Amino acid sequence: SDLDKGTYPFYMIKEIDEQPAVLRRIIQEYQDEAGQLTVDQEILDAITASDRIYIIGAGTSMHAGLVGKNIIESLVGIPTEVHVASEFAYNIPVLSKNPFFIYLTQSGETADSRQVLVQTNKLGYKSLTITNVKGSTLSREADYTLLLNAGPEIAVASTKAYTGQIAVMAVLAEALRKDLGFEAKFDMKHELSIIANAIQVLIDEKDHVHALATDMFTDKRNAFYIGRGMDYEVSREAALKVKEISYIQAEGFAAGELKHGTISLIEDGTPVIGIITQANTAAHSRGNIEETRSRGAKTLVISMKGLDREGDDIVLPKVESLLSPLVSVIPTQLLAYYASLDRGLDVDKPRNLAKSVTVE
Ligand code: G6P
Repeated sequence: SDLDKGTYPFYMIKEIDEQPAVLRRIIQEYQDEAGQLTVDQEILDAITASDRIYIIGAGTSMHAGLVGKNIIESLVGIPTEVHVASEFAYNIPVLSKNPFFIYLTQSGETADSRQVLVQTNKLGYKSLTITNVKGSTLSREADYTLLLNAGPEIAVASTKAYTGQIAVMAVLAEALRKDLGFEAKFDMKHELSIIANAIQVLIDEKDHVHALATDMFTDKRNAFYIGRGMDYEVSREAALKVKEISYIQAEGFAAGELKHGTISLIEDGTPVIGIITQANTAAHSRGNIEETRSRGAKTLVISMKGLDREGDDIVLPKVESLLSPLVSVIPTQLLAYYASLDRGLDVDKPRNLAKSVTVE
């Protein structure tokens, strides 16, 4: 059953393994009779009537929002902002005339996110909650809900909810695109199913990633994940994952910004993991990784097929570049998992953390 670890030592690795199935289920659940990706027309009408989308979330869900913003803006051009719930709630920025709010929350119970929803409800703004839990508080209190259908996520460190949230936002963006009559730049449904297969390929290489994790993180106290654009956004999630469960201080950093201060932290053997999936920034990112290596960093390169170079440690199957976070995040989840496992830690129940935080 979904609640049974089976032969898995930890829920986290079970949930990492489930991601191809979660993606396929999302494609399945959000199809109309003609097999086209779709969501309720009411939701599309509410969003297309607005002039700006505000995505609100905490932790990993907020990180999924950063990727969702790219997908929505690229497909439909509606300006989209992403905010940390606990910051937004008490420092509400100047809003557009007609805002629409998307709440991203695996549990649907995060108090920080709910506090924002309480306020936007008071102001009369329309909202959508994207959540894994049917009937959860944020689902009940928002106007609309889209479910992840990812099955229960038990491990404190979120994995399948991150990819699930990105996939549901991709479906939403695709449905909006069609509704607005914009031309398709690619076949979303087809690309998502290619990605489900690509994720499986990466999961099948987990022993290779385990060896890399051991090599990178043994006896290390800090680490950097770097990238540009969506690779930067995945870097932030990658760093959060490693912090949460291995207690290695990790930072996800904009590759190009490193040289403006933070590169002074690079010492002999400092782990730097570079992510390269975007053609327009690949050369610059590679240069930035090289700058850290020449200052003593121990580097690991995750690149996408077509942008790879000999010696890259992990080569991702080629997928639609706008959706690359769905595949580039997988090895980073595995790196964090094995870093924690190698240290003999309780992967599923890291110290000081709760799966769902119902206090502000
Ligand atoms: C907690 C969890 C995180 C999670 C965050 C948001 O802090 O430890 O893993 O990302 O809450 O949770 P939500 O259920 O709102 O997505």
